[in-house]
Amino acid sequence: MRLVLLGPPGAGKGTQAIRIAQWLQIPHVSTGDLLREHVERGSRLGVRARAYMDRGEYVPDDVVVRMVMDRLEEPDAQKGFILDGFPRTVPQAQALEDALADAGRPLEAVLKFTIDDDMAIKRLSNRWLCPCCKRTYNMEFMRPQDGSSCDDDGCQLTRRSDDDEITVRRRLDVYRLETEPLELFYWERGLLREVDAQARLDLVTERTKEALSDIAS
Ligand code: AP5
Repeated sequence: MRLVLLGPPGAGKGTQAIRIAQWLQIPHVSTGDLLREHVERGSRLGVRARAYMDRGEYVPDDVVVRMVMDRLEEPDAQKGFILDGFPRTVPQAQALEDALADAGRPLEAVLKFTIDDDMAIKRLSNRWLCPCCKRTYNMEFMRPQDGSSCDDDGCQLTRRSDDDEITVRRRLDVYRLETEPLELFYWERGLLREVDAQARLDLVTERTKEALSDIAS
């Protein structure tokens, strides 16, 4: 399956993408994770991206589009993929549509996760991550067993530098301005499906699977 996940920061895209990827046995491609890897490595792309990410703004389209297209050419993505956090602008969506049309493998669905701003801020203010395996925790909703380290590998959990409330509010504004227009873009193409993501984790997973039940094999 070739799938895009849309939704504001904190909607649970990354959390659900990991579960859907296991269910469908296809790779989860997160532009946020790819960009953070570049930042950690200190690559040229990472140095350029970091300033935008720290302000809660989008990294320029040309940088992100090239990075995603390279990733989608890897062998594991030939059987399908889940794009989490891409596309986020109409030019990115157009570039993706053109590239997939050229390859004869168009998108099959776009899931839009909905959540209100207060819940997004609450989730992101309490998000902690394992720097080793990238598993996400939440001090309000999904606590690690000992309260501070990863249940799987024992690494000390850390926070994302863009998860403070001021930057989250900026990210929500940027989402509304730049990414919400994609809902119409995909609705016009008959691809958009909505999932109410303001519910407990397992229920959102059930809703996600239900939304894909007619095309999941
Ligand atoms: P990115 O990393 O993609 O951040 P985001 O889109 O803002 O999304 P988040 O990762 O914050 O939220 P999520 O929806 O994945 O939520 P999660 O599952 O973690 O991008 C970061 C930055 O990179 C951007 O700001 C931009 O600068 C740049 N960038 C990335 N892609 C780009 C692009 N295409 N173009 C340009 N720039 C780009 O869940 C959040 C928390 O809630 C977790 O703690 C989780 O445990 C918890 N949680 C999840 N679901 C539930 C639930 N149902 N109940 C209770 N808690 C839950």
